[in-house]
Order: sequence, then structure tokens, then C-alpha cells
Amino acid sequence: MRVIYYFSGTGNSLSVAKEIADSLTNTDLVRIDFTKLQKRVSIESYEQIGIVFPVYSYHMPKLVVEFLKTLQFNSNQYVFGIATCGAVAGEALKDLRNLIRGQGGELTAEFKMNLPGNCIIEYTAYPNIIQKRLIQKQEVSVNKIIEAVEHNKKTLKINASLFAKVFSKTAEKRYQSYSETAKHFCITSGCTQCGTCQKVCPANNIMIHNGSPSWGKNCEACMACIQWCPARAIQYGKKTIARTRYHHPKVTLGQMKF
Ligand SMILES: Cc1cc2nc3c(=O)[nH]c(=O)nc-3n(C[C@H](O)[C@H](O)[C@H](O)COP(=O)(O)O)c2cc1C
Ligand code: SF4
Ligand code: SF4
Repeated sequence: MRVIYYFSGTGNSLSVAKEIADSLTNTDLVRIDFTKLQKRVSIESYEQIGIVFPVYSYHMPKLVVEFLKTLQFNSNQYVFGIATCGAVAGEALKDLRNLIRGQGGELTAEFKMNLPGNCIIEYTAYPNIIQKRLIQKQEVSVNKIIEAVEHNKKTLKINASLFAKVFSKTAEKRYQSYSETAKHFCITSGCTQCGTCQKVCPANNIMIHNGSPSWGKNCEACMACIQWCPARAIQYGKKTIARTRYHHPKVTLGQMKF
């Protein structure tokens, strides 16, 4: 038996995790979200465990870290990690390696996959032509990963470049500040009170009062709310007004909702 855990704000990691799970037999696909922190699960019966997540500021999303700390791995299990990112995975896979070791296992195989960047509070969506190219390459990369997993292949470590190492701490602080400044999320008069933002939030950080959303202090900075709002009614201060929204083209809103 095999399990693939994934965390995803705009569908890149979900799409990769799902394609792998659909190609392999006996594979459970499990979303990492706030509900998974509420009770401990045993992964003893799994021979292979996959973890797919987006890179945030050269590191791992904090919810993924918290979730993995609830699991007990063993050294006989084949554990593989896939970091999806816009370009630079930084120390994310090293973080994962250390984390798994701390929980009794070994990260046997690690992969980095470049996909369209989704950090709308920093930049607009990648041009369509670049998005298309990255998504075409996804298929080739996914096939290589499937091949590796099927044959229990070990891979080389993916370490940060010198540049990423130097900026690692600064990047980490930046990520922390994103989550603390969820207060910059606001809604415009275009809000239709559909509740989608609350339903896609993996951190349960959005409250609805009289139909309108408000944000708490427990944000993962995953961008799901702002990117998936069907009315484009969520902004991050003034920065995002003119920016194009992004989500993975093969992932539907229905797959993202709780
Ligand atoms: C807060 C934040 C920080 C990010 N930091 C990085 C980064 O350090 N390096 C990078 O290449 N991409 C970065 N990205 C882009 C995402 O890692 C990338 O788009 C990822 O594939 C999104 O996956 P998802 O669609 O499953 O959420 C960042 C995105 C967000 C929202
Ligand atoms: S998803 Fe957008 S339109 Fe729907 S409730 Fe949230 S802000 Fe309003
Ligand atoms: S509030 Fe928005 S950005 Fe923050 S975790 Fe929830 S969906 Fe993601």
C-alpha cells in the first residue's frame, strides 16, 4: 500500500500528486489541511509514502511541517518528496529530509518540479506561453517520478544553491510576515457572498459573517482564496487589483473545496 499526501493552494501540487496516484495501484491520495492536525494517524501499513507540496520562500509550508510532525515513519519505508515551485526550491527538500529523519524515517527520493508561480501578492500570473510550457513539461517529469517510485529508486539530494542559502533566513522571515499580514486581504463590492474562499482555505482561516468573509491570523499564504474567488473580489491591499489570477488548468474548483 502507498499513500500520497499533498498540500496545494492553486492546484499545482494537487495535479502532480493526483497524476501519480492515478497511475499507480493501491494508492491513497490525502489532502493536508487543518483537519489532519486534529487526530494522529498511523502510517505503519504503508510501504511507500509520498509528500507533495509547494515551496514557500525557499522552505516548506508550515501546515505541512506541523502535519508531518504528527506521523511516525520507519526506516523500511520508501519516502519520496516532491517540491513544486516557480523556479527555486531553496532549502525546502533539505527541510523535508531533516523532518522525516526526526520522525524515524529516511527521505529516499526527492524531486523538484517547476510549475507556474502563484504568489500573486508578489507578481502577476506567468504569461500564458510560459504556463503552457511548464505544464507540458509536467507530464515528462511526472512519468520519471512514477518510474522511480515503481522501482523504489533512490535519488541524489537536491540542495539549495549558494544564493538561496544566503537568502534562506530572509526568505523565511518574509513568509512568516505574509501569514501575519493576512489582514491585508480585503473584499470589494463585487463579492457575491458565495463562500468559496472559506471552502478552499486549507487553514480554516476565513470566517463568514452575514455572508461576507473576514480573515483570521492563521494564514498559510497559500493564495487559494484570492486565486479561486470566482468574482475576483478579493484583493491584497491595492497590489493585486491589476494582477491576473492563476490556478492549474487541469484542477477544478470542486477538487479544491472541503
Ligand atoms: C507565499 C509563497 C511563497 C513562494 N515562494 C516560492 C519560492 O521560494 N520559490 C519558488 O520557486 N516558488 C515560490 N512560490 C511559488 C509556488 O511554490 C508554486 O507556484 C507552487 O507550485 C504552487 O503550488 P500549488 O498550486 O500546489 O499551491 C511561492 C508561492 C507562495 C504563495
Ligand atoms: S469567494 Fe469571492 S465572491 Fe465568494 S464569498 Fe469569497 S470573496 Fe465573496
Ligand atoms: S486565508 Fe487565503 S491565503 Fe491564507 S491560508 Fe486561507 S486560503 Fe490560503
